Amino acid sequence: MRHTPPTRSPTPDAKRTCTEIPSDKAGPSTSSWTRHPVHYGKGIHLAPMVRSGTMPTRLLALEAGAELVWTPETVDRAIIGCERRVDPKTGVITYIKSHKPVLTLHPVERPRLIFQLGSANPDLAAEAAKIIYQDVAGIDLNCGCPKHFSVHAGMGAGLLLDPDKLCAILQAIRASIPPEVPVSCKIRMLPSQEDTLSLVRQIADTGTINCLTVHCRTPPMRDREPAMKHRLKDIVQSVGKKVVVVENGDCVGYESAQQILQQTTARAVMIARAAEANPTCFLPDGPKDAETYLIPRYVRLAKYLDHHWSNTKFCLAQFTSPDPHLGKHGRLEWKKAINGAKSYEELRLLWGKEAGFFEGGEEILAGIQHALRARGRSAPELGVLSTPGPALSQQSASSVIDPAPPDPILVREIQAVV
Ligand SMILES: Cc1cc2nc3c(=O)[nH]c(=O)nc-3n(C[C@H](O)[C@H](O)[C@H](O)COP(=O)(O)O)c2cc1C
Repeated sequence: MRHTPPTRSPTPDAKRTCTEIPSDKAGPSTSSWTRHPVHYGKGIHLAPMVRSGTMPTRLLALEAGAELVWTPETVDRAIIGCERRVDPKTGVITYIKSHKPVLTLHPVERPRLIFQLGSANPDLAAEAAKIIYQDVAGIDLNCGCPKHFSVHAGMGAGLLLDPDKLCAILQAIRASIPPEVPVSCKIRMLPSQEDTLSLVRQIADTGTINCLTVHCRTPPMRDREPAMKHRLKDIVQSVGKKVVVVENGDCVGYESAQQILQQTTARAVMIARAAEANPTCFLPDGPKDAETYLIPRYVRLAKYLDHHWSNTKFCLAQFTSPDPHLGKHGRLEWKKAINGAKSYEELRLLWGKEAGFFEGGEEILAGIQHALRARGRSAPELGVLSTPGPALSQQSASSVIDPAPPDPILVREIQAVV
């Protein structure tokens, strides 16, 4: 097991991203793997989602054009004491405890991966941040989860009622990690706008965060109630220019993001449920078909990455598309097979597909890496919405395998972390 980060200096770009945080607020200045600027204020991000926002979903969201992707919330005590393992074949990094995976990620997503932490304790938060920062682009504090287990323990939306503790946790995280690793937090609105404004000012005044995501609902509000986007404009103004504000709530894709940016003046938008239903929703032309494109691609990628079947099955069961290519009967047959299968192989047999049908995940991963590198190189600093990688934007729904060759830099990175 190893928690020591590889010793490569941050790039000049990485240094640029951390200038907003004064050095007296930041932690040790150890070097790390090559970091790129973290564009919180550009494009559309994938929201943190327990169970649904796992590694294959995040990779496909990035391929479709998501700028940044959040991990599902992981509680501080879960990450503390984990062993870090790297699969020498695929490069997959797993934080594991008591033989159970706590968090799984891939070096391909690392420059755009934000780790979301659940915590009610500054010391534990700092300890967890120190362990995980080596493998992620940034660290986010969950201050919005309204679930009983979270609030009861003083975490999630519980922190909205104790802003001093919330700020103390942010300060502790900031002080525990190098300045090139940005910190953010995700909140819900409070019932009163005045209280919300005072809360966000207090958070911004800590000088510890680069980004604030605002889920435009209050903790008791259900997801079926419309997000209160009309309240965000004042919040953006009161936070000022130093902190990027990201809107969250009711965005369903590229076009809807454009409208939300205009209405709220937020710098970027974050999507949860629409991406849970179809992670290709980030594409400017709308999501690709679930059965003929997304599901085979997801299964191939997940199988190559050795992603555990139970989570793959759960995610596949959520996928849908607005205008399904298969008829109603065909869709039902696919869903029935997913529900009945106990393994990747069983699913292939239930679908009646040939032996090699689930092969090709390695090429899909290489294609995603290739697309992200191309996007990174061409990323316009002043762009509002990012565009998907060329691999996906030029593909038809029937060409599910991206022929891009493995990237030698990726191969070297994988070798470096093993
Ligand atoms: C399945 C699921 C899991 C979620 N898990 C988290 C989580 O781990 N952390 C968090 O801050 N929010 C979580 N959320 C809330 C979303 O990130 C988001 O704030 C909310 O769904 C509103 O966005 P939407 O209207 O795009 O769905 C979750 C939502 C869903 C649907």
